[in-house]
Amino acid sequence: MIISENISLKEYNTFGVQCYAKRFVSITSFYDLQQLLKSEKELFLLSGGSNMLLTKDIEKLVVFLDFKGISIDRENNNSVHITVNSGENWHEFVLWCISQGFGGVENLSLIPGNVGTCPIQNIGAYGVEVKDTITKVEALEIETGKLLTFSNAECQFGYRNSIFKNEAKGKYILTSVSFQLTKNQHQLNTSYGAIETALQENKITNPTIKDVSDAVIAIRKSKLPDPKEIGNSGSFFKNPLIPTNQFLELQEKHPAIPYYKISETETKVPAGWLVEQCGFKGKRFGDAGVHKKQALVLVNYGNASGKEIYKLAQNIQQTIFDTFKIALEIEVNII
Ligand code: EPU
Repeated sequence: MIISENISLKEYNTFGVQCYAKRFVSITSFYDLQQLLKSEKELFLLSGGSNMLLTKDIEKLVVFLDFKGISIDRENNNSVHITVNSGENWHEFVLWCISQGFGGVENLSLIPGNVGTCPIQNIGAYGVEVKDTITKVEALEIETGKLLTFSNAECQFGYRNSIFKNEAKGKYILTSVSFQLTKNQHQLNTSYGAIETALQENKITNPTIKDVSDAVIAIRKSKLPDPKEIGNSGSFFKNPLIPTNQFLELQEKHPAIPYYKISETETKVPAGWLVEQCGFKGKRFGDAGVHKKQALVLVNYGNASGKEIYKLAQNIQQTIFDTFKIALEIEVNII
């Protein structure tokens, strides 16, 4: 375990923003992590770096969590229980599941980031959220060095939300995530319009988990920028939930507004649509911009600073508030 100094974090965040860690350590074993916790308590945890915007250098010790390993805990004819260490890449794990014939995460193909952070924001796409397959999360308590288990219910999952974004924030290091997946009779979720269309185009009437994964990969590639080519952090904002009365007024003015009915009193509207209506889609301000195919995604064309991207985000929030009286909440962690 070597602590290095003044390390650039550009390669460690999918926005590709240049910032420095005063001190940096890469952790590959549970033992090393426990040893580190004996002397260091002020930590900045770094995993896939796919849901953060760095706006300044990091003064705390940056701990890059790089534990690898996947193990099958138990299985029967219908399902399998798997534990995955937090440093495994999410999409590689999904592809491994598909190659093994394990179903449940295929709709979550190609989401950037590592397994250890998937529960924090309860990653979701195309009608599926990761909470649907998680059985438990193991985490090391920073204060005591104790390993604790959070059941699915204890994770308090919600839309892009969990206990790890709320009262447990900053207190734990997630070391592994356990999943229950199907081995046959997969519960395929193809109801999302774009998946149905992609399957129809390929004349697939009886899809496998691989077909669904391939469809999701094709859809994501057509809409979302690849962080290896253009820095980004996926959806920058959450889709806002607004009172249905307010939604109905909006719908009168904009009959084509897409929406998801949540309850009789609340309606969710796509932030991407709101951002597009305000003219930001495809706009570029220096090297910071709004993606041309999905207005919910802010991008770094190369040398934008975190501050510039954040300024653009605030400009978007203010414009949307002035235009629609809707407060857009940022989904990405601003550091
Ligand atoms: N829309 C626009 N303009 C845009 C973008 C979207 O009008 O620039 C409209 C679309 O036409 C569509 C609606 O908004 O009618 C919804 O768009 P989309 O299907 O692309 O989904 P989203 O609600 O914008 C959410 C997730 C994505 C996830 C997709 C698919 C959030 C914050 N985002 O986006 O998640 O991939 O659904 O399930 O919930 C991520 O979190 O990083 C992410 C990419």
